Amino acid sequence: MIFDTHAHYDDDAFQADREELLDSLKTAGIGTVVNVGASIASTKTTLALAERYPFVYAAVGVHPSETAELDEERMRWLEEMCACPKVAAVGEIGLDYHWDEPDRETQKRWFREQIRLARRAKLPVIVHSRDAAKDTMDIIKEENAAEAGGVIHCFSYGVEIAREYLDMGFYLGIGGVLTFKNAKKLKEVVAYMPMDRLLLETDCPYMAPTPHRGERNSSLYLPLVVKAVSEIKGIPEEDVVAVTEANARRMYRLS
Ligand code: NI
Repeated sequence: MIFDTHAHYDDDAFQADREELLDSLKTAGIGTVVNVGASIASTKTTLALAERYPFVYAAVGVHPSETAELDEERMRWLEEMCACPKVAAVGEIGLDYHWDEPDRETQKRWFREQIRLARRAKLPVIVHSRDAAKDTMDIIKEENAAEAGGVIHCFSYGVEIAREYLDMGFYLGIGGVLTFKNAKKLKEVVAYMPMDRLLLETDCPYMAPTPHRGERNSSLYLPLVVKAVSEIKGIPEEDVVAVTEANARRMYRLS
């Protein structure tokens, strides 16, 4: 069944129908979801979702744009949460120079600290990197994030950078963008990368695939991404589903 490796079902966009939607996923062929924290508050709501739904796992962490809220005490709390049985990763963490807020030094500091946390907790990282290719790569190397392993989520760079991450053992998260007309660069990356490093993700409620671009996204649209991967790789859709599910279980270390 399809494994959605990156979702935000605690987002307000799902306020009206969250329960109904999550209850409908199994029949639609979605077997597992990792809900990803992006702040201290959304890490709490993520943990609550994972507690309630057997097929939902949690990632705990603070998104680069929210790192101004971090301090030593909150880092200690995150570390405690890493021990919860359904926590599968530290994320999403990284650098976002598109919004460029808070300042880059703050983002870098907490990216480093959260990588260290993942290494101590022996959890993989979910990396968010936007318009920050060089600094992300430098910190990943300096902090030896490869020891934790993990995924470069919503991968947005070219083949050269993809190769570097793949060589270090990372997975690449592929979502709705792959179906966009102007996604030439990402299509090249998918054509280049080995199937056993590809993870399916929605980043819902964002990044809905064509023909739903701009609408609220959910795991129910992942078959459109499966179809796009199947066409680029020349393999059957059921193989895309089976291989990416096995990849996700291996990366998140779920049995
Ligand atoms: Ni996300």
